[in-house]
Amino acid sequence: MKAAADRRPPQSARSRWLWDFLSGHSGSSERMLAPARQLAIEHLGLQHGDRVLDLGCGTGPNFETLREAVGPGGRVVGVDFSSGMVQRAQERIRERGWDNVDVICADALRARLEPEAYDAAIATFTLSAVANVRAAVDTVYAALRPGGRFFVCDLRLVPSGQAGLVIRLLGLAYRLIAGWSGRDVLEQLQARFQSVDLVMPLRPWPPVMLALASKGQAI
Ligand SMILES: C[S@@+](CC[C@H](N)C(=O)[O-])C[C@H]1O[C@@H](n2cnc3c(N)ncnc32)[C@H](O)[C@@H]1O
Repeated sequence: MKAAADRRPPQSARSRWLWDFLSGHSGSSERMLAPARQLAIEHLGLQHGDRVLDLGCGTGPNFETLREAVGPGGRVVGVDFSSGMVQRAQERIRERGWDNVDVICADALRARLEPEAYDAAIATFTLSAVANVRAAVDTVYAALRPGGRFFVCDLRLVPSGQAGLVIRLLGLAYRLIAGWSGRDVLEQLQARFQSVDLVMPLRPWPPVMLALASKGQAI
């Protein structure tokens, strides 16, 4: 007989269901997180003509700024595994008439993106919501060209200081609802990328991390 844990739908199926549901309710978080997105995009140092990947793009709140930064000759590619999110992202692209933005419906943990084809990548509040941070980081690493940059803006659910208990509870909720693996996103970035710079010093509260990771140049 299967253990209770085995009978539950896989973590990814449960969290996909949640993100499908939330895809129709993302307006307020989109506005609230606008300054963090702007900061992320500024630090990526995008150039006209660049190709940029938006991992776990959701409904596409990063698209407009990314697309302005890469210009008409550049390309923005969003990836998300929630069909609800992808549908809304596609509506956004259609309504605005953007012809240099695409969305792929795929699981970041096993997506086979064109290798070394992207100049830069961004993940805003995505890595803490995936079931295997290392696999998602590997996907981005493989897709970036040597010297490519990856900006991560995310929660850092590592309990410390007086807010430790609150962060622990937040982490538990993220594990149950969003499938967070419990792995420190920063550690996983440092394990894969040749350099990782913190854009803002880590503080016990708010539990937010802004980091710029760079893939080494080929020798
Ligand atoms: C908190 S939302 C962030 C969305 C968007 N990046 C933003 O800044 O608003 C997390 C997103 O990650 C996506 N996601 C979670 N796990 C994923 C996976 N394994 N593969 C692809 N997308 C995933 C969810 O569907 C959701 O759209």
